[in-house]
Amino acid sequence: GTSRKMSFGFNGKMNGVEGKTPFLIGVSGGTASGKSTVCKRIMEKLGQVDKDHTERQVVCISQDSFYRDLTPAEKLKAEKGQYNFDHPDAFNNDLILQTLRDILAGRKCEIPAYDYRTNSLIKDKVTTIYPADVVLFEGILVFYFPNIRDLFHMKLFVDTDSDTRLARRVPRDINERGRDLDYVLNQYMNFVKPAFEEFCLPTKKFADVIIPRGADNTVAIDLIVHHIWDILHTKNGDSASGQHPYIEHRRTS
Ligand code: ADP
Ligand code: C5P
Ligand code: MG
Repeated sequence: GTSRKMSFGFNGKMNGVEGKTPFLIGVSGGTASGKSTVCKRIMEKLGQVDKDHTERQVVCISQDSFYRDLTPAEKLKAEKGQYNFDHPDAFNNDLILQTLRDILAGRKCEIPAYDYRTNSLIKDKVTTIYPADVVLFEGILVFYFPNIRDLFHMKLFVDTDSDTRLARRVPRDINERGRDLDYVLNQYMNFVKPAFEEFCLPTKKFADVIIPRGADNTVAIDLIVHHIWDILHTKNGDSASGQHPYIEHRRTS
């Protein structure tokens, strides 16, 4: 294979050209466990938040951007709280797979934008993801399908008590997602809780690192930030094997 000895942050920024393989981190956990908050903290601590999107070395993508668009009949169900948004089939899993493969190939890609208030994709709005050194992909079911799960170089599971999660989900969904109390509690009992137990919780065993208490766990977040920092400052190795060069570097040094 070809041996590229360039440092991180210099190659792979060429639009439309296949670049280096980023270090891909999957972040899962139940609803309102703190996945999005943990990823935000990681980005903040790495000084990525104030950077222009094209300049970021670390980017974060949410599985929620990949919710399927609903048929008119499904839309009516969703408005009544009778649609299961916590089932693996609620996501466009082919698009997730394709997007993650593009990201791993160092290609620029576009991801859809989602609106929880209307339960639909925002028309004509996409977010461009530029090649980065580290990519975080977070969501309730990112470890469910083996072909998606196997793409991650590192898997984190945010583990927060169910009562804490419900206590956080209620105000969040009322304030940020346009729901009322009845809707949130019914949806939780009918779909969210059973689907968590059936589909999400069993994927905890695939995690490399479990983060108890989510964003409160500053020690765990600092450990992960330290690790990412290490990756960002490690010289690129031979990525011809499809393995991330960081892993190769560690193995041979
Ligand atoms: P997830 O992405 O796993 O669903 P979020 O990060 O959106 O979880 O967190 C759910 C809600 O709880 C949000 O309103 C968030 O601001 C709040 N939250 C998250 N972590 C904490 C924490 N450690 N303490 C207090 N509130 C938190
Ligand atoms: O951020 P969080 O992990 O909580 O996002 C996933 C949750 O969003 C799921 O538990 C699902 O019930 C909820 N959801 C929703 N309405 C939508 C899409 C997702 O309530 N239209
Ligand atoms: Mg979230």
